[in-house]
Amino acid sequence: MRAAFIEALGPPENIRYGELPSPVPGPTDVLVDTLATTVNPVDTFVRSGLFPTPVPFPFVIGRDLVGTVAAAGPGAPGFAAGDRVWTNSLGHGGRQGAAAGRAVVPADRLYHLPAGVRAEDAVAVVHPAATAHLGLFAHGRLRAGETVLVAGAAGNVGAALVTLAVDAGARVVATAAARDLDHCRSLGAAVALDYRDPDLAGRLAAACPAGVDLHLDTSGANDLEAAVELLAPRGRIVLLAGARSRPVLPVGPLYMKDCSIAGFVISHATSTELAGAATTVNRLLADGRLRPRSVETLPLSAAAEVHGRMERGELHGRRMVLCPALDPPGT
Ligand SMILES: NC(=O)c1ccc[n+]([C@@H]2O[C@H](COP(=O)([O-])OP(=O)(O)OC[C@H]3O[C@@H](n4cnc5c(N)ncnc54)[C@H](OP(=O)(O)O)[C@@H]3O)[C@@H](O)[C@H]2O)c1
Repeated sequence: MRAAFIEALGPPENIRYGELPSPVPGPTDVLVDTLATTVNPVDTFVRSGLFPTPVPFPFVIGRDLVGTVAAAGPGAPGFAAGDRVWTNSLGHGGRQGAAAGRAVVPADRLYHLPAGVRAEDAVAVVHPAATAHLGLFAHGRLRAGETVLVAGAAGNVGAALVTLAVDAGARVVATAAARDLDHCRSLGAAVALDYRDPDLAGRLAAACPAGVDLHLDTSGANDLEAAVELLAPRGRIVLLAGARSRPVLPVGPLYMKDCSIAGFVISHATSTELAGAATTVNRLLADGRLRPRSVETLPLSAAAEVHGRMERGELHGRRMVLCPALDPPGT
């Protein structure tokens, strides 16, 4: 099969596109023909070594795919040849990745795709949306009626945070670039503010008179002095971005309001947590509320180019979807 893979950790140029043997599924696995995969920031972290995880070489890159079941093992009940499915669990933790014509997926990390949803649209949103679910509910303990501040609300994870928080009955206050404020409102944010506004702190305080119950910043800026100041009593900050950020933490105001900070990466989520997120993701996919804003489809052989564009900050939220069917035969 054709695959995008690496033989050593390092820069995007390490990604090769070529022939690898087809993977062999175990009894509790499902063999999936890939229709579409994508590139997330975490894929660049795994490829470069920034996120440490077992990487058996040659290592197929990529975390998410939508595909069609080719064969299901005897210990993979519920899946049959021809089913359209998705996963967001490959390419880390010792599992080979999604950027290949075929992939082996453990049955407990594979979900059916709702009818009528395009593979390219689904693969673009499942990772950000599952991340949002874990951040809001598993780690953020969000309840209906609470106020959530989403910084970076127009990005992939940010838009999913707004969509899922609104769906859960929370009031969302969003920050984003001026050009993206209408988009945040269209997702259901009650208030959307320009993150470059010199009086952002004052406007946020005015928008959250009783304080912020849950604060998430997808930009990775992680201004904890401002975030703690805004927190309501028993407020929570969930850290999920900014791998290299080293912010100042105002300890006194944090503990004197009974507040807390949690960090997480989706890579450590259990298969049960991921399945819980997948249930919500599928419901919102099926009713059309979870959609990518902008998708560009490319052949699988463009994987190295896409990693480079992402690392150079050229994508601005645009999702790159890689489809093996777009690779010319014989390449
Ligand atoms: N912990 C996890 O499990 C997990 C999972 C998935 C992703 N992540 C992380 O989440 C982050 C976001 O990923 P993504 O795919 O959503 O990226 P993205 O689509 O680029 O979104 C980031 C957004 O933040 C905005 N932004 C930049 N500076 C800002 C500021 N000071 N205040 C408010 N907004 C600001 C950007 O706007 P502009 O276009 O104006 O720059 C952009 O819309 C990445 O660091 C990624 O590694 C973590």
